[in-house]
Amino acid sequence: MVSLRSLLRILRPDLTKGISGIESIIPPEIKGDEFYAAILELASTVEARHILEIGSSSGQGSTDAFVRGIARNPARPQLHCMEISKTRFAALRDHHAGNPQVKVYNASSVPAAELPSADQVAQFYRDQTTKLNDYPLEQVLGWLEADRAYMSDAVIPDGIRHILTQIGVASFDLVLIDGSEFTGEPELERVYGAAWILLDDVNAHKNFRNYHRLRQDPAYRLVREDWQVRNGFAIFQRV
Ligand SMILES: C[S@@+](CC[C@H](N)C(=O)[O-])C[C@H]1O[C@@H](n2cnc3c(N)ncnc32)[C@H](O)[C@@H]1O
Repeated sequence: MVSLRSLLRILRPDLTKGISGIESIIPPEIKGDEFYAAILELASTVEARHILEIGSSSGQGSTDAFVRGIARNPARPQLHCMEISKTRFAALRDHHAGNPQVKVYNASSVPAAELPSADQVAQFYRDQTTKLNDYPLEQVLGWLEADRAYMSDAVIPDGIRHILTQIGVASFDLVLIDGSEFTGEPELERVYGAAWILLDDVNAHKNFRNYHRLRQDPAYRLVREDWQVRNGFAIFQRV
C-alpha cells in the first residue's frame, strides 16, 4: 500500500522533503522544465568564476543542468554544490567524483539558529496564501522542527560563509536558492550582491519574501519568472 507520505512526495516532492526521511533519496525536482533549461543556458554562457547551488539533493535535478552548462562555458566556472542530507550528499559526491569543475559540501547553508520560530512560520502561513497552504499548519511546523533538528547536527553549520572563506571571494557570481523550505531568507542575506540570483519555490515559504525583496531592489532586475512551473521560479540579474 502506498503511504500518505509517499503519495505526497510524488505529488509535491519539493514541499514534502521535511516530512521525513531527509535521509532518503528523492526524485529530481528541477528536471525537464523551463527552469532546468534556463539554468543550463545561464551556466553555459555567464562569465562566472564561482557558482553556488544550495540544495543539490543527490545531483540529478538542478545540479545536472549546472554540470552540463559549465562544461560548455568557456569561462570554466567552478560549481559549489551544498547538500545537508548525508545520504543525498553521498550520492551527489559519487556522481560527480572526478569532475574538477564540481566541488561538493555536506553542509548546512546557514546555522539552525537562523531558522524562523514556529510562530513566525504560522504567521506567514496565515498572512500569505502560497502552496504551503495545501498542507495543514501542524504538518508544516513538523517539517520546520525536523529541519531544526537535522541542521543542529551539521558538521559544517554555516556552509555559505565556509565556502566563501575557503575560496577567498566576497561573493558568488551566480546562486541558486533551493535548500530548506525555511532558510531562504538568511541564505539570500549571505549571497546578496551576486550577479545572478535564481529562486525556486517562489510560491512557498522558501523564496516568497526573497522574490519580493529582489523585486523592490532597483539594483536587481527580474529576467524571468513562471509561477506555474511547480511552485514557481524566478531569475534576477544585478544591474
Ligand atoms: C527542494 S530539494 C532540492 C532539489 C534539487 N535542487 C533538484 O533540482 O532536484 C532541497 C534540498 O535541500 C537540502 N537541504 C535542506 N536544508 C538544507 C540546509 N540547511 N543546507 C543545505 N541543504 C539543505 C535537502 O536535503 C534537499 O535535498
